[in-house]
Amino acid sequence: MKRRTAVLLSGRGSNFRSLLAATQAPGFPAEIVLVLSNVPDAGGLVHAVANGIATAAIDHRAYRGNRAAHEAALIAAMEAAGVELVCLAGYMRKLTPLLVGRYAGRMLNIHPSLLPSFPGLHTHERALTAGVKLHGCTVHLVTDGLDEGPIVAQAAVPVLPGDTPDTLAARVLVQEHLIYPAALAQLALGGSGVTPPPGAALHNPLPVSGPLP
Ligand code: GRF
Repeated sequence: MKRRTAVLLSGRGSNFRSLLAATQAPGFPAEIVLVLSNVPDAGGLVHAVANGIATAAIDHRAYRGNRAAHEAALIAAMEAAGVELVCLAGYMRKLTPLLVGRYAGRMLNIHPSLLPSFPGLHTHERALTAGVKLHGCTVHLVTDGLDEGPIVAQAAVPVLPGDTPDTLAARVLVQEHLIYPAALAQLALGGSGVTPPPGAALHNPLPVSGPLP
């Protein structure tokens, strides 16, 4: 039985696309049954509709700063759809303990840095400014702290001479699209190991996936 999964996004949704493609493979242990966005014209919603996935746009602006009320609407939509697992994929809202608590241990986020380095925004610019030689991405379980929570998967890429934030972001994004489906599979299987897909973490001497707590 595939685990019923929601994706929350605010933008173009390239990670959602990679998750959708992976979940549609026979034998993948999760399926995407709902895509939610706080941005009504998010590109990810368009892709979901085009692929016959149920969507809901729940615009945070209608809630006038009441984050908990907005999250209650998200939760209601997910519960109506029988959602078990949640993937944040470019969802650009800070979460309150309401949503975090409801899906504790069942909600993943992808972040474009090797956490715990560079939590927050503008990670690629900050990596270049810091002069790091390795950068990358992280999938982690969501907890109350921003971009904290147990790490499920990581992939590293080199920072190359002449890199700009855009070129670095593009190199990282390739890895995001590989490790997020692997991490979702791992979560859906209840923490059992997942073989990283070919091409993931080419520059990482460590396995991309670790055991869940
Ligand atoms: C990705 O870089 C992800 O790591 C970050 O937001 C971006 C979303 O991109 N959380 P996309 O909408 O999935 O293309």
